[in-house]
Amino acid sequence: MAKVTVPGVRTRKVRDGAAPLVMVTAYDAPGARIADEAGVDLILVGDSLAMVVLGHDDTLSVTIEEMAHHTRAVARAKPKPLVVGDLPWLSYHVSVEDTVRNAALLVRAGATAVKLEGGAKRVPMVRALVDAEIPVMGHVGLTPQSINAMGGFRVQGKTVDAAQALVADALALQEAGCFAIVLEGVPDTVAGLVTDALDLPTIGIGAGVACDGQVLVMHDLLGLEDRITPTFVRRYADLRRTAIEAVAAYAADVRTGAFPDATESYHLQPDVAEALGLTGDAVDPEGPSDDIVHGLYS
Ligand code: KIV
Repeated sequence: MAKVTVPGVRTRKVRDGAAPLVMVTAYDAPGARIADEAGVDLILVGDSLAMVVLGHDDTLSVTIEEMAHHTRAVARAKPKPLVVGDLPWLSYHVSVEDTVRNAALLVRAGATAVKLEGGAKRVPMVRALVDAEIPVMGHVGLTPQSINAMGGFRVQGKTVDAAQALVADALALQEAGCFAIVLEGVPDTVAGLVTDALDLPTIGIGAGVACDGQVLVMHDLLGLEDRITPTFVRRYADLRRTAIEAVAAYAADVRTGAFPDATESYHLQPDVAEALGLTGDAVDPEGPSDDIVHGLYS
């Protein structure tokens, strides 16, 4: 697969015959390599980092420095999917100048584009970012950074007025220059309305199948996050259970002396062992044959 670009994403409308976009979050280099090898189109270094990696109860505590740190780790894997860095709460709310400076931190950390939450009220920020040559992904509907204002993680766009406001917000973001818009936590038919109204792609999460793509949090789809399971998540694995079983098996092997065995230990050459007066396991010939511990630095 070739490297995914912003113009390549911008035109991906399902109604024009495009395959749905696939986006997944990643927060470090191993996660980025998994997403890359799995063949997704976009990696979002989401501010969900706060909840699924850093252990906070919402996304409000993560800082732009922490987002840059994790974006750097993702970018180090040089993934082919487009890397989108999420602007955290208060990094784009104070001023347009602040917004551009903070977005630049994510771009310099390796993001190709940034994402921000909110509709028409973010238009000045989106315009300034686009002027600074920074591609922007919008995010409307359930915007987790507004948890306190919304009174919790609640489905949005459920009334006629709210659905129409959602369409207007998405159109305003499109007009301001966004290249794609995340639609989170809205009724499927409303997501369809927004998707039909736009000529840029929508990427849904808890927004039904009518979007131009889908995004899930990596830790949710792998079954690593155990505290919260949003109802829209499909778990494709139970890695938390697998990991607990693996660590418990390791602990048992250490406690019984079954780990490490001779093949997992290094051994002296017999003549050296003999000169040291050693016998038995010290000269076991089954160990690794040379002194390279692993290949990364050889
Ligand atoms: O931070 C995040 O992971 C997100 C997705 C849920 C869209 O914003």
